[in-house]
Amino acid sequence: MNQISINEFIAGIPKAELHLHIEGTFEPELMFKIAHRNNIPINYSSVDDLKKAYNFNNLQEFLDIYYAGASVLIKEQDFYDLTWAYLTKVHKHNIVHTEIFFDPQTHTDRGVSFETVIHGIHNALEDGKEKLGISSQLIMCFLRHLDKESAVKTLTQALPYKKWITAVGLDSSELGNPPSKFERVFSKAIDEGFITVAHAGEEGPADYIWEAVNLLKVSRIDHGNRSLDDDQLIKFLAEKQIPLTICPLSNIKLKVVDDLKNHPLLELMDAGLMVTINSDDPAYFGGYMNENYSRIASALKLSKKQITELTINSFKSSFLPNSDKEKMIRKIEEYYQKNNN
Ligand code: HPA
Ligand code: ZN
Repeated sequence: MNQISINEFIAGIPKAELHLHIEGTFEPELMFKIAHRNNIPINYSSVDDLKKAYNFNNLQEFLDIYYAGASVLIKEQDFYDLTWAYLTKVHKHNIVHTEIFFDPQTHTDRGVSFETVIHGIHNALEDGKEKLGISSQLIMCFLRHLDKESAVKTLTQALPYKKWITAVGLDSSELGNPPSKFERVFSKAIDEGFITVAHAGEEGPADYIWEAVNLLKVSRIDHGNRSLDDDQLIKFLAEKQIPLTICPLSNIKLKVVDDLKNHPLLELMDAGLMVTINSDDPAYFGGYMNENYSRIASALKLSKKQITELTINSFKSSFLPNSDKEKMIRKIEEYYQKNNN
């Protein structure tokens, strides 16, 4: 049998994506198109000109551009088009399940209604299931740079749409905005039946990861790179198998890691943690899922067995029912048996 390359192996293996901001999939071409039809000026003369601005020294420099980009999204159709573009793209990456973050406050603060945002995204996800066979769940993130009252208001707006939203999360500027700031709203969300997740330990300290676990009762940590600063925390995360959603290309673009060769992924795997690979904001960070897998595989010389383990982890860490998880794990194991030569 012909041996397939590691990149072919990555391309063909079924994957779940668990850390993906829908606003972070906004490709410049679509951004210009939507800005034009909504009559909104963009500060850049062309797609190339805009792409040149995608050089960031930290999370905040990225967020400033990311929020500016999202500001051209006004109508339900805009949110539909954004989501549909992501789904058609990742269909080609063999993503069969995706759990998508959206940031309602980025839009409601500009006068776009919660209903407009969620209807556009939800309708595209329904079409994604029907036409592309991609299952999905929605995670509503609170912006941590805004006050907690705004988060409570957002949770209230979400209640009529509970059946469309699986979990709540926490994103945006981490430093100075610890998980403890959102303890009350997360507790309300849990009472309402939502699962919880949170970005923690991307730029913030390991203590923020402890807070996310202990105060926000999270089922997953988004990023979590800084857990390696705390041996007790590493032991705890391994013991409890609390997943980390790792985003290699994001870590490079936001200078959380200086070089993929120094990425802590293997250290985390060796310590027995449940780690997954994800794309975060692929339109801004230079690659979707398969590029994230390929670049980290090449930098760390990952084997097909390790890639297989990471994709199995992506389903184990998902919010899919156990029967679906088991079905996907069996499929991945068959794929490995066929292609591990
Ligand atoms: N971190 C925090 N907030 C975000 C990110 C991220 O990587 N992407 C979009 N919002
Ligand atoms: Zn993120």
